[in-house]
Amino acid sequence: MSETAADILAQAQADLAAAATPEQVEACRVRFLGKKGSVTALLKSLKDLDPEQRRTVGQQANDLRVAIEQLLEQRLTAVGDQSARSRVKIDYTLPGKRYPAGKLHPVTQTLNEIVDIFYGMGFRVAEGPEVETEYYNFGALNFPPDHPARDMQDTFYVGKDTVLRTHTSPIQIREFERTKPPVRIVAPGRVYRQEAISARSYCVFHQVEGFYVDHDVTFADLKGVLTAFAHTFFGSDVKFRFRPSFFPFTEPSMEVDISCILCGGRGCRVCKHEGWLEILGCGMIDPNVFKSVNYDPEVYSGYAFGMGVERIAMLRYQIDDIRLFFENDLRFLDQF
Ligand code: DAH
Repeated sequence: MSETAADILAQAQADLAAAATPEQVEACRVRFLGKKGSVTALLKSLKDLDPEQRRTVGQQANDLRVAIEQLLEQRLTAVGDQSARSRVKIDYTLPGKRYPAGKLHPVTQTLNEIVDIFYGMGFRVAEGPEVETEYYNFGALNFPPDHPARDMQDTFYVGKDTVLRTHTSPIQIREFERTKPPVRIVAPGRVYRQEAISARSYCVFHQVEGFYVDHDVTFADLKGVLTAFAHTFFGSDVKFRFRPSFFPFTEPSMEVDISCILCGGRGCRVCKHEGWLEILGCGMIDPNVFKSVNYDPEVYSGYAFGMGVERIAMLRYQIDDIRLFFENDLRFLDQF
């Protein structure tokens, strides 16, 4: 004769009350509900009973199983909690952990600030791909086929006609192809050059490109915009110098120097005793560039400029090694 449901329930209650660990609770589960458990035995014995009895006892056995499952669960929560509590000893008097707040990288901060200033002057923001075709990076920008900048020594080629862009100027071409003048855009982005890594040059850096094309855009407009930019960014005391230079995509081309922000032009270590710091290249967009995007150079004129973000951040924060920006040493980054 097998045990009755009531006996089994009483036994389960007693056993579970004595169970103090999750393992002991599990042992109880096996003892009652496992393959050879007493509830299982009771269920198996049903087949020997006559139909009338089978219904009553069957119902009891089922209720018993549900009841024991509940008991197991309650006990497991209770002992689990207890053992967790006894393992962790909390000292409420200890000071809390301080999680350092993240912040933007100094190059990103500088880049955002430059873009914001131009945005405030009515420039729209555009971006372009970092993997470019030779055509956008060089050809459409009026670089002759044998121009030294196309050389493998300066440019990372990723395919026969595909390069990692060496400057943000290809965004000019992409935007000119998409829109008709007036176009007034700043285009920030990452650029790549296969140069010997040193305190002054790194294989990756950032540029901000700017350009404006419309009827009657003049060099005076360019000077005005760049002066406004430099006064906002470096302060209203800085003086300017436009030096003639050469870029294939501008004619005439200039480089812009500002008076040294550290010594005010008297000469110091930062400006290498010259009193001037170069901040960007610029010029009036070459008619050949307009031709490659089907803008009529007789109808439109425009200016363009491009500046290195790391270089400008280095001037502003007086950092003498560009590599510091890419090492991600928190002792450096924390200072900005
Ligand atoms: N793309 C030039 C460079 O990488 C910078 C530059 C110079 C951009 C003159 C311009 C420009 O738009 O007009 O070095």
